[in-house]
Amino acid sequence: MGNVSQTIAKSVNSYYNRDMAEFISKSREDTKAFACAYAKTLKRGDVVLLDGDMGAGKTVFAKGVAKGLGIDEEVTSPTYAYMNDYDGRLFHYDCYRIESVEQAEQLGLADYFDMGGICLIEWSQNIAPLLPPVVKRVRIQKRGENERIIITE
Ligand SMILES: Nc1ncnc2c1ncn2[C@@H]1O[C@H](COP(=O)(O)OP(=O)(O)OP(=O)(O)O)[C@@H](O)[C@H]1O
Ligand SMILES: [Mg+2]
Repeated sequence: MGNVSQTIAKSVNSYYNRDMAEFISKSREDTKAFACAYAKTLKRGDVVLLDGDMGAGKTVFAKGVAKGLGIDEEVTSPTYAYMNDYDGRLFHYDCYRIESVEQAEQLGLADYFDMGGICLIEWSQNIAPLLPPVVKRVRIQKRGENERIIITE
């Protein structure tokens, strides 16, 4: 019995710690460098939710991911376009201004989730019902003017 509960404790622990990493960023450049390395862990078609308050550094993170994927084009905030398509390899969303799920559906935002490119989504809570069942998550928390804590899971 001791062995069984040990095994369960171990697997629960590994479940919660699965691929989770925490990084302290001290600058915009740190965040980009971390995101660039993180990009190498991503696979075709991965959908990554970028969580964090306004000005946390989600778009800065997206710039680093693009670099890590070998995309030369400059990544800018897709606020007005809702989604920027980088050569079908990266789809970068900003759903801040999405007003309803119906609007998101009409814009066809869910169509890109299974096209093989990596999807990075800012303000994904505004399109929650459209998200695929399996997603990755990156949380960025502001700690000070230039310090951020970045949690990937
Ligand atoms: N360690 C850091 N990592 C990332 N950005 C930082 C850091 N320190 C300061 N900054 C600054 O914080 C701001 C982050 O802006 P960014 O546009 O990436 O935020 P965002 O999370 O995308 O916000 P929004 O929700 O408005 O789109 C930039 O001005 C950047 O220079
Ligand atoms: Mg942004």
